[in-house]
Amino acid sequence: MRIFIELSGEHPTLPRAEALAALAAERVEIRAAVFDSQVLRLDATGPVERAVHRLGLAHVVCEEVASGDFDSIRSFARDSDFHGRTFRVRARGVGVDVDATAVEGQLGADFGRTGVVDLEQPSMDYRLLVGEEFFLGRVVHRIDRARLEATKVAHRPFSLPISLHPKFARALLNLSRVPMAGFVLDPFCGTGGLLLEALSIGLRPIGLDRDRRMVLGFRASLRGAGDGALGVADAGRLPLRGASVHGIATDPPYGRAASTRGEPIASLYERAFRAFRDLLPPGAHAAVVLPNEAMIDLASEHLERIEAHALRVHRSLVRHFCVFVNS
Ligand SMILES: C[S@@+](CC[C@H](N)C(=O)[O-])C[C@H]1O[C@@H](n2cnc3c(N)ncnc32)[C@H](O)[C@@H]1O
Repeated sequence: MRIFIELSGEHPTLPRAEALAALAAERVEIRAAVFDSQVLRLDATGPVERAVHRLGLAHVVCEEVASGDFDSIRSFARDSDFHGRTFRVRARGVGVDVDATAVEGQLGADFGRTGVVDLEQPSMDYRLLVGEEFFLGRVVHRIDRARLEATKVAHRPFSLPISLHPKFARALLNLSRVPMAGFVLDPFCGTGGLLLEALSIGLRPIGLDRDRRMVLGFRASLRGAGDGALGVADAGRLPLRGASVHGIATDPPYGRAASTRGEPIASLYERAFRAFRDLLPPGAHAAVVLPNEAMIDLASEHLERIEAHALRVHRSLVRHFCVFVNS
């Protein structure tokens, strides 16, 4: 199956890394991947639906049904038979400025020989990408970006300004490569932002924090959202049996606003990463946001670093979305 994913533009590498990790988590094999102008085209074996429903940093995912110049796309449309069903075609320029309405009109006329236009709730939803080449796709999934905005920490029962935006929380969870229904641990869970998103994409959350108020607050936010195992614990002394989780996704304190009760972050990370290594099964991943290169190096002494994406938040804060594997 050939698919294309229209990635979001929040970062040059993180959206693509998230998509590839989500596919890997759901055991979708990728035979070839091409990336250009925020579009990721993939030749994939296995069902992609489960993986693409997890994405946070993307807009639309399509199964590619035709490619080439505009004439070959139009002849595909003329040869299709919709048997009177409803359809919609939306066009978008990729790296070029196009008159989308004109292109949609011509293609709509071709499809309209056997189908009926419905712009609101069509049974066949098509997307045309216009660039050096044209790609026509049937929409498989649209990422609900409005829902991701609506679940920001400020809108939750227990709210503190320490939580990642839900779209970045999803990206971090996907980077941890925990499969559907797998257990994901956040040992610095705070208000629970990451683990609420974990629930929304079908993972089973385990949340720990040293601060009891966080655990109680997270429990309040969890009510009605789903089940999770929560507890008060130090991230360097995890009360869990080895290999009892499929992966870790976490956003620890950076030694700034969030409290470490006076412990230098180098000491905290040293203890935490040692505990992560003892807990994770071989081949499992930890996706961790770190504040600087020195902390990435420190973490790499315990787990093997496989990728890092630096996201500038403001002048004095860069979040490094890092992935480590227990090799
Ligand atoms: C940046 S916040 C986590 C934000 C979280 N992702 C959220 O959505 O709210 C870091 C959390 O680490 C917790 N923490 C600090 N030191 C800790 C330790 N030694 N063990 C466990 N948790 C700790 C703090 O209480 C705080 O809640």
